[in-house]
Amino acid sequence: MRVVVGITGASGALYGVRLLSVLREAGVETHLIISRWGAETIREETGLDPDRVRALAYRTYSHDDLAAPPASGSFPVDAMAVVPCSMKTVAAIAHGFSRDLISRAADVCLKERRRLVVVPRETPLSPLHLENLLRLARLGVVVLPPVPAFYLRPASLEELVDGTVGRILDHLGVAHGLSRPWGGPSHPEQHGLGRPRQPGPPQACRPGQEGEPGDGRQGEPGSSGGGGGRPGVVEVETRAGEGRLQVVARGWDTGRGYVVGLFGGESPHVGAVVVSMPRPSLADPGKPSCTSSVINLPAHKEEEVIRPLAEELARATGRPVVGVAGVHVEGADPASLDALVHHCREAGRRLVGVITRGDAG
Ligand SMILES: Cc1cc2nc3c(=O)[nH]c(=O)nc-3n(C[C@H](O)[C@H](O)[C@H](O)COP(=O)(O)O)c2cc1C
Repeated sequence: MRVVVGITGASGALYGVRLLSVLREAGVETHLIISRWGAETIREETGLDPDRVRALAYRTYSHDDLAAPPASGSFPVDAMAVVPCSMKTVAAIAHGFSRDLISRAADVCLKERRRLVVVPRETPLSPLHLENLLRLARLGVVVLPPVPAFYLRPASLEELVDGTVGRILDHLGVAHGLSRPWGGPSHPEQHGLGRPRQPGPPQACRPGQEGEPGDGRQGEPGSSGGGGGRPGVVEVETRAGEGRLQVVARGWDTGRGYVVGLFGGESPHVGAVVVSMPRPSLADPGKPSCTSSVINLPAHKEEEVIRPLAEELARATGRPVVGVAGVHVEGADPASLDALVHHCREAGRRLVGVITRGDAG
């Protein structure tokens, strides 16, 4: 699939950057044009060098290059998206004033009857802006303002951006898992804590209930191992190892972040605490990364196992993760210690699988 992406000088550069990186992951051939003020807003709003954004695309063109392939209808493309789209570029497209490559490539989409998505950003909108947007809509352009769907309760800027990028991908015809469809209102008890629960895996049982050790189990919203009910909190448990070397991994989805724990051996306790905050990778903004802070209790080494777990979950979900670990076997020999570390990693890997995919893997 081949898609032309234009980034203009409206606020919301992050939407364009995220779209490019998701299209790249999806194997879509992207042809990128960044306007002069698009480059400025990328710098201003994301702190990124526009060349780093260009590196996400399959090919890039100068905004002035009206001889570039996307300027011609003979260059086959499946769709085009202008993300974000300034009111100047909205006006240019609406009136066929093709003085730069973004408006010319959009004009080509219109004349060739190809899919065109514009993500206009301005507020408030003047009658002129509204008239131009109406012209575009009447021409068959998908006018998709970056207005968040708060009913999906975005827990971070990344989730908020992904909500809009997911809708853009829907209209470009690219499959994605960025945003979840609305699955109906949340249970009244969930307000203030949880997110609307989507139907789907995994089927659940609570910690302490029967089930194969280590197969990943999830509690219903409002349930907890200790009883009493915590509205909106979903509890998950996995295990690895046997007997005194068994490790239990527990996770709680609060709806806005996760709390995970690794406990086991003969005397579970609190040995290390970590907080991992997701963020885009500094080296490649298309990739997720995170920043962690750790508190080790004196003479404890659980950071070694809880930090990788918290970081993996933060990167995979884009949500903050708090991790706690305490695993101890009295007088353990080196082989038992190795086994405990291995079981911690295995139980943690299963926990991440259950939380992110619905199975322990
Ligand atoms: C930081 C910054 C934010 C801007 N935000 C908007 C905006 O949200 N919407 C808009 O229409 N123009 C916005 N502008 C103005 C446009 O960049 C300007 O109209 C420019 O000529 C658009 O040209 P382009 O469409 O070729 O990028 C912004 C400019 C700057 C410097």
